[in-house]
Amino acid sequence: STGRYQVCCIGAGYVGGPTMAVVAKMCPKIDVTVVDISQRRIDAWNSQQDSELPIYEPGLKEAVLNTRGKNLFFSTDVDGAIERANMIFVAVNTPTKKDGLGAGRAADLTYWELAARRIAKIAKSPKIVVEKSTVPIRTAEAISTVLNASGTTKFQILSNPEFLAEGTAMRDLENPDRILIGGNLKDEDGIQAIGELVDIYSHWVPKEKIITTNVWSSELSKLVANFFLAQRVSSINAVSALCESSGADVDEVSMAVGMDSRIGSKFLKASVGFGGSCFQKDILNLVYLSESMGLKEIAEYFHWVVRMNDLQKDRFVSRIIHGLFNTVTGKRIAILGFSFKKDTGDTRESAAISVCQRLVDERANLAIYDPKVQEAQIWQDITAASRMDRLELERLVHISSNPYEASQGSHALVVCTEWDEFRDLNFEKILGIMEKPAFIFDGRNVLNHEHLRKLGFVVYAIGKPLDPRLNVV
Ligand code: NAD
Ligand code: UDX
Repeated sequence: STGRYQVCCIGAGYVGGPTMAVVAKMCPKIDVTVVDISQRRIDAWNSQQDSELPIYEPGLKEAVLNTRGKNLFFSTDVDGAIERANMIFVAVNTPTKKDGLGAGRAADLTYWELAARRIAKIAKSPKIVVEKSTVPIRTAEAISTVLNASGTTKFQILSNPEFLAEGTAMRDLENPDRILIGGNLKDEDGIQAIGELVDIYSHWVPKEKIITTNVWSSELSKLVANFFLAQRVSSINAVSALCESSGADVDEVSMAVGMDSRIGSKFLKASVGFGGSCFQKDILNLVYLSESMGLKEIAEYFHWVVRMNDLQKDRFVSRIIHGLFNTVTGKRIAILGFSFKKDTGDTRESAAISVCQRLVDERANLAIYDPKVQEAQIWQDITAASRMDRLELERLVHISSNPYEASQGSHALVVCTEWDEFRDLNFEKILGIMEKPAFIFDGRNVLNHEHLRKLGFVVYAIGKPLDPRLNVV
């Protein structure tokens, strides 16, 4: 042993990788080992080609290159890392259950429990286990039971949910709004464990931003924070439908409403719908928890945030189909953006997947372009979402290497992600290579609609007064 404080993180994904890169960067005296069962992921983290890191996140590459091999290590030796560690973060995936009890709603804790059982089996000395994954309330308690059942050594379980958003993960981690630590404040060992975790964050986070609560409050706060954020998006998206029917402009309404300091301006951008691996999953988790506690109406209230999001995606696709004279069969449509938001290559629950699936169902021909999402990922997502098999899909779907190639011969451009580069496209050139009338459906309200209309495009934008040339039913 080197005598240095040893941190291990189980799960080298979107949370484990960036979070541990920041811990390593901010705490040069601590050794950080990130482990995963996926050899492919670990190889990618260790890749000498820095373009090959498994995830794209602005600033991540630099942080990894500066610390990797010094005090940041990526490995598949899960047992070795557990054995050495003083503190073990668990950042494994906790997706929505696909089958069985609570299917489609409850969190699948299989990976979490496997990780916990591995820790219980391997650990010979006392460990602090930090729950970084988002989990239902009372998970820490259950995990504590599993861990302490063997009686070989003592475990302290802390809840420390992660609030980073993809695309801004490094900024969020280096300058968090708060660090939330849930632990057993009534027990001396609990207080000691909380203290060790506070010490780590204190390297770069001001003390007043590090808050401690009981474990259940901490676990629940994570789900509630995501509910509140998603609720704002669904609320403004509900308003966007009202705007289209009334002549109001949703961006003007957002601005007017958001200037009320009690409401605030963030997360009021109307869109084709929220995506990402967290919002839907965590809200469904809250729905399931409420239902299982007999709180039916409360579950329904939470559930409407997800249902509104589904309606928004449907509404957008309906606008496209009706706009294109009630049929898209055989028409080429360019899809601009496939990730669930800009500055990430992540496509989990991306609105683009639903939009593409529905258009493919109508037998449209799609030309999809995204600056960061890998081609194989797009195929995987579309195949999983569609009833058609890969061969059938290959007749309808084409992946483009640039937006101009995607636009060539298409009837419509459909913006699904707000990538900055879409604002600066040469739309005169694009108009020239498209079928006429040329349509743009801006699912993110990022383009200059007035300019596009002057050029000759028929433009639909979310929650904006409708273009009189757009066919509506
Ligand atoms: P991810 O799928 O990107 O990464 C999870 C990793 O854990 C995978 O690489 C997987 O191979 C590995 N893993 C699974 N079981 C393992 C085991 N038993 N031993 C070792 N490795 C194992 O997931 P993610 O996006 O990083 O999310 C992780 C958790 O963090 C989830 O609970 C999620 O809800 C939460 N979270 C995610 C975000 C986000 O923006 N992605 C933000 C906040 C919280
Ligand atoms: C979210 C939470 O923000 C973060 O705190 C949590 O840790 C994980 O889940 P993330 O999903 O990465 O982060 O991105 P976020 O910025 O929250 O966006 C989620 C979705 O909502 C995206 O599809 C985004 O485009 C959409 N969105 C967001 C809107 O449509 N309008 C908005 O005003 C804000």
